[in-house]
Amino acid sequence: MFKAKNLSPRQLSLFTAIILSVPIGLGFLLVSPEWEIAAIAAVITFAGSYYMIRFVLEWFIYRKIKLIYKFIYQTKASKREEMYYKYILPQKGIDQVRQDVEQWAEQRSAEIEMLRNNEVYRREFLQNLAHEFKTPIFAIQGYVDTLLGGALENAAVNRKFLENAAKNVDRMVNLVEDLDEISKLESGEQPLYKTGFVIQELVREVYESLSIKTAELHIITSIKKGCEQPITVFADKEKIRQVLINLVDNARKYGKFSGTITTGIYKTDEKHVLIEISDDGIGIAEEHLPRIFERFYRTDRGRSRDVGGTGLGLAICKHIIEAHGQSIHVRSKPDVGTTVGFTLEVK
Ligand SMILES: Nc1ncnc2c1ncn2[C@@H]1O[C@H](COP(=O)(O)OP(=O)(O)O)[C@@H](O)[C@H]1O
Ligand SMILES: [Mg+2]
Repeated sequence: MFKAKNLSPRQLSLFTAIILSVPIGLGFLLVSPEWEIAAIAAVITFAGSYYMIRFVLEWFIYRKIKLIYKFIYQTKASKREEMYYKYILPQKGIDQVRQDVEQWAEQRSAEIEMLRNNEVYRREFLQNLAHEFKTPIFAIQGYVDTLLGGALENAAVNRKFLENAAKNVDRMVNLVEDLDEISKLESGEQPLYKTGFVIQELVREVYESLSIKTAELHIITSIKKGCEQPITVFADKEKIRQVLINLVDNARKYGKFSGTITTGIYKTDEKHVLIEISDDGIGIAEEHLPRIFERFYRTDRGRSRDVGGTGLGLAICKHIIEAHGQSIHVRSKPDVGTTVGFTLEVK
């Protein structure tokens, strides 16, 4: 374990002093036969060089290193740090100092990397936003211009065009609401109000609130057989309602005419319950699965359905579930159906 580069200043001084004093002592022995003189010369050289080298190392080099440390940690030395500089730093080999500096540099470059990613993220977000707004705005513009250009007097189309314009206004309202929601969630300004409630009841309420829309498509909603036994979960009820609305509404939008939406509720262990919403709709191709929780991400099939989605619904769900310290996942097969599941804490 004797490596010159790992020596502390004290060891280094000792080492150098020995190297200096031994040949000098031997030299004296050669010139005069009296060994006492040689010994004294060796001792003086040893002591003198030892203290001198140590002094130079500690006061000169370590002072500079201390400055480097102060700089990289950007500290004004407190009492504790002064202790550190005084007693611990001199024990560090130059090698270790280099490691510390490298670590610092790594940290810095990780920070810069993160800032750069944020910048890319922000730019993509704005691009997506502009893109998502463009579609309804141009549609509204088109209908309004056509109406003003004469279609207003044409009883065969005027109502239809206005309705279409209104539909696109709704779409923009949805988008703004979702954006508002997600930015609130991301800023973390919405605390969770956790209470105990029966998850089956909430699922039934959500089915009920969407029943007009599901009935239009003759979709049958149900809780899976064997999952009716009431389970009380501990979560923010309104936020979980929002998650369920998003998931059931997706199952409807990307479901099939006369299809089914089924919710399974399973206790996975003493502390957790798994809630799974399944449909028998268009499904999601495997290559899209890892990305559908990203904001604005929509599959081409999803887009082409023109069901007025924003691509933010699943991103919002993920936020809410993760804020609860739980997880959300999806499995799907094109033309067979999709199951989105998430976990909650049991009360
Ligand atoms: N149950 C589902 N079946 C098929 N595709 C789905 C389902 N749920 C979500 N998707 C796909 O994931 C995309 C993202 O969903 P979401 O974030 O809720 O956005 P949105 O519903 O506004 O389109 C959808 O556009 C759709 O392509
Ligand atoms: Mg959705």
